[in-house]
Amino acid sequence: MRVITTAKGFSDALEAERAVGRRVGLVPTMGALHAGHRSLVARAADECDVVAVTVFVNPLQFDAAEDLATYPRDLDGDVAQAGSAGAAIVFAPPVQEMYPGFPAPVATSVHVDAVGDVLEGASRPGHFDGVATVVAKLCSLAGRGRVYFGEKDFQQLAVVRRMVADLSLPVEIVACPTVREHDGLALSSRNVRLSADGRRAAVALHRALIAGLGALDAGERDPARVGAFMTEVLTTADGVVPDYAVAVDAATLAPPPRLGGEVRLLVAATVGDVRLIDNTGLVLERAETPVGVQG
Ligand code: PAJ
Repeated sequence: MRVITTAKGFSDALEAERAVGRRVGLVPTMGALHAGHRSLVARAADECDVVAVTVFVNPLQFDAAEDLATYPRDLDGDVAQAGSAGAAIVFAPPVQEMYPGFPAPVATSVHVDAVGDVLEGASRPGHFDGVATVVAKLCSLAGRGRVYFGEKDFQQLAVVRRMVADLSLPVEIVACPTVREHDGLALSSRNVRLSADGRRAAVALHRALIAGLGALDAGERDPARVGAFMTEVLTTADGVVPDYAVAVDAATLAPPPRLGGEVRLLVAATVGDVRLIDNTGLVLERAETPVGVQG
């Protein structure tokens, strides 16, 4: 396992791998690795010849300084987990290496309109600018290859896909399914901050998604009504404060008049003082042509 801390060292290492014909896989993370991250590394190791995991707690994507300060950090543990899941390189740069002059504001940043402005973008202004900026930089340093993201952060995946297409970055984005605890709670680095009561309550997010799927299964196609079923589950759970619960078009993340095609259910809620998100998807028949309308 090679641990690289300079941007140039990272870029050169992956260039050297490509020069001998190896396919590069990149897994961007903020560390505190768990089985969700490991599933991305394992998938990358299946599909690529050399896998690099980046471990960088990106200050640009945190809205509260406190959240940044309390974000769990364990580089030795991360290196061990990345290695056992199949990575050969860990890139763990100090903040000055990514943002020279930090904490001076970064002059150039990436903003993704529309898909980056709703839901998490509305609740956490500037968050996706931070994500898009750091992912653009990591992709640019890593160069041509595949880059792996979790569906756990579905909107992040949508923002990154849009950014990669619009900036013509030479990478292919690969989406990986969400890894969950036995009771359905999506694995997240934030889960360690939940109290025992909070941990029990947090499963409400998953239950809300199941309720949304149930409503769709029963034929409900009004996004507001599906959202209301999910909100109800969140509101009635002790200690859970819902932020949003929506049924949207998976490509635009906007609610269509009637749900059809690729649908995504997304929820966000605060449990204790921990903000959690989750989502799931399904494909419905497209809305039928109304009877009597021809051609
Ligand atoms: P982080 O939260 O560390 O997540 C890194 C990657 O792991 C993301 O692609 C995320 O979707 C994926 N992931 C997290 N939990 C998962 C789970 N339970 N199942 C499957 N995949 C999971 O997301 C970030 O870091 C940052 O925003 C980053 C993209 C690294 C930019 O700073």
